[in-house]
Amino acid sequence: MAVRSIAALAALSTMACGIKGIDERTVMTETEPTTVTAKKLHEIMRGYVKTALLRTAIELNIFDGIGDRTVDADGLARALGVDARGLRITLDSLAAIGLLRTVDGKYALPVDGDKFLLSSSPTFFGPSLKLGASDWEWDAQKRLTEAVRKGGAVMDSHALTPEFDYWEDFAENTTWFNNGAAELMAEQLLPWAKDRDSVDVLDVACSHGYYGVNLAKAEPKARVWGVDWPNVLPITAKNYERNGISDRFEGIPGDMFSVPLGGPYDVVMITNVLHHFSADTSTNLLRRLFDVLKPGGRIAVTGHTFVEGERPEDKPLPYLFSQIMLVMTDEGETHSTKTYERMFTDAGFVNPQIFTAEKAMHTVFTADKA
Ligand SMILES: C[S@@+](CC[C@H](N)C(=O)[O-])C[C@H]1O[C@@H](n2cnc3c(N)ncnc32)[C@H](O)[C@@H]1O
Repeated sequence: MAVRSIAALAALSTMACGIKGIDERTVMTETEPTTVTAKKLHEIMRGYVKTALLRTAIELNIFDGIGDRTVDADGLARALGVDARGLRITLDSLAAIGLLRTVDGKYALPVDGDKFLLSSSPTFFGPSLKLGASDWEWDAQKRLTEAVRKGGAVMDSHALTPEFDYWEDFAENTTWFNNGAAELMAEQLLPWAKDRDSVDVLDVACSHGYYGVNLAKAEPKARVWGVDWPNVLPITAKNYERNGISDRFEGIPGDMFSVPLGGPYDVVMITNVLHHFSADTSTNLLRRLFDVLKPGGRIAVTGHTFVEGERPEDKPLPYLFSQIMLVMTDEGETHSTKTYERMFTDAGFVNPQIFTAEKAMHTVFTADKA
């Protein structure tokens, strides 16, 4: 695990990308210019075919049907009850994109396919497709041109719509891949929480609840109050129940911008939420959360981020995530480390820290109420 002050991380990362000096305002790059080729354009143009293939393979249980065997197309078509020609073409395409392996004209899972492609595996990727390759996300990206013209979401219902049904799918289907950041956050908070008399936690926009669950399972004093829309909280409650800690969870249904938040709390968590809003709106929300923290309390945040001055070419994920926020929200985008630091400071917090780890897809930030 790496921990640094936010300013130190910005400086380090700036140097690591081959950028001269540590002042992000005077960025100069020395890397090769980007080249476009017809092959690259073709691959990008047909990218949606790969998404469709993965979705269909999971929907038709193709990977489960193969399991640990090497199978022929006709036999598998009979077992799955699908057309033999349709399946043969699809199996070859899945092999072409690296999701199957061919052995003497038959088909088997690729290396590590058992971990990610079989529904019996704890790290099965299938649930993630109900979000990242969902009809809603696909339909929204089809209207990207309109979203760019407008500068925000154009779908009738989107991330800011109260009780948006996508958030039920999110709570149901966010699985193992989010746990790395939840574990990282718990690891950071636990030594600090250990000596406190109480560990009362407010988890804002808690969804599945994994961030609070991870902390509460490791710290018996922890009690968690989770804010989310009323259609989502029953799913949160179920996850606390599954983990045997439902007696330490209480839901606060309603809009996080206006519902009474109770408190005061030792810890406030707000994870993967601030990128739905502009820095100004996020700062106003952070001020509201500052008000329900005890003096000496701590806020813990996760999200994608980037260091100002870094190039999208070198670290694509946070920028592509902004593209999703463009179609899902009115004003959301990935915030830089510097913006996070400014938002914390403007909301009244001190001692902003940043934590990263290989296992965590998201960055963890903390800051304190003096
Ligand atoms: C991207 S998810 C984040 C969930 C979780 N904290 C995580 O880190 O995975 C956003 C969550 O915010 C909730 N949400 C969005 N707007 C909200 C609002 N105004 N008030 C309460 N919850 C809201 C959604 O229902 C959803 O569960």
